[in-house]
Amino acid sequence: MRLGSLELKSDLFLSPLAGYTNLPFRLVVRELGGIDLATTDLVNARSLLERNPKAFKLIETNAADRPLAVQLFGSVPEEMRDAAVFLQEQGVSAIDINMGCPVRKVCRVGGGSAMRTELDRTAELVQGMVNALKIPVTAKMRLGWDDQNLTAPDLARALEGAGVAAVFVHGRTREQGFGGTVNLAGIRAVVEAVRSIPVIGNGDVTTPEAAAKMFNETGCAGVSIGRGAFYDPWIFRRTRHYRTSGELLAEPGFDERVRIMCRHLDLMIDVFGEEHGCRMFRKVAPWYSRRFGPVNEFNKKVVTISSRAEFLEVLERYRTWREQFLGPDGQLLPKFQPAPMVASFMREPAVASRDTIPVPKGPVDVW
Ligand SMILES: Cc1cc2nc3c(=O)[nH]c(=O)nc-3n(C[C@H](O)[C@H](O)[C@H](O)COP(=O)(O)O)c2cc1C
Repeated sequence: MRLGSLELKSDLFLSPLAGYTNLPFRLVVRELGGIDLATTDLVNARSLLERNPKAFKLIETNAADRPLAVQLFGSVPEEMRDAAVFLQEQGVSAIDINMGCPVRKVCRVGGGSAMRTELDRTAELVQGMVNALKIPVTAKMRLGWDDQNLTAPDLARALEGAGVAAVFVHGRTREQGFGGTVNLAGIRAVVEAVRSIPVIGNGDVTTPEAAAKMFNETGCAGVSIGRGAFYDPWIFRRTRHYRTSGELLAEPGFDERVRIMCRHLDLMIDVFGEEHGCRMFRKVAPWYSRRFGPVNEFNKKVVTISSRAEFLEVLERYRTWREQFLGPDGQLLPKFQPAPMVASFMREPAVASRDTIPVPKGPVDVW
């Protein structure tokens, strides 16, 4: 797998999830294996240039967090270029551009000459960045505004002309938000629109089988996983194993999930300090617990923690409470086991509409 001059050991990627894909989470998924390039949350180019401390925290990294892409957003070409050059000097391996805004404008005008103007302006911005950098520039987009305006193939082709090394495509339209089914044919149309750059598919991949299906049906060169990595930070390793051997490794058990959850908390404390790290972890722990079985007791208490000791106490109490749901073998009784994960595009259409992956709170409408 190659993004321009950057050679990668994996064709699986971690999608940017603002508020979540910080250094601790990236280190967790890297330690579990199967991934190479990971991306930060989106970062405002101007804030970086203004040396805003919050923006600097978003790009905090260390030697184990390599190779790293930083996702930038902004619409002023000089700011995007200068922020990217600054990041290159800091040792970042690639710059990803969040195409949320240009795509919105492109789609709003509904094609025609206005769309062409917007595409040209976007391509110019990208070209300015590509010309100033040695590291690769990539772009992340949705399929378009709605089903009548699937602009991603045109945008991807224009960006390839401007020199991007790859495009990441979430297989949904802006109108879909996070609902409905990921459109594999739509991703395929982007793969077919570009000449030679890799297209990386994205959306709803929560199992190794779903990743394999996305590869097979779209012809994409890579798959990027966001929320699926929350349920299952092992997904990259399990997907790699499935694709190389055909064997589906079992989902990790409770003890392994707890071990990694504790590791994640320790890294949050290292990076953000004990109190702030624990407060931030209040919204992270419930993702781990989604695969624990009955979990009310845990979820109610974990949202109050402010220290590591409090977290460990919540966990110990939960372990004791959870025993009532276990069989003699120490495993959850079948009726309490969580249902298997199934990606939207793996289900029958009627099921897909009522059983989607939860979306955390936040301004997700722009992603
Ligand atoms: C909480 C949240 C935050 C997100 N933040 C970003 C972001 O900063 N930049 C971006 O390009 N996409 C962002 N996205 C979109 C994801 O990168 C991804 O395209 C989308 O969630 C679909 O992939 P998934 O089903 O594997 O999560 C975000 C999505 C969520 C749910």
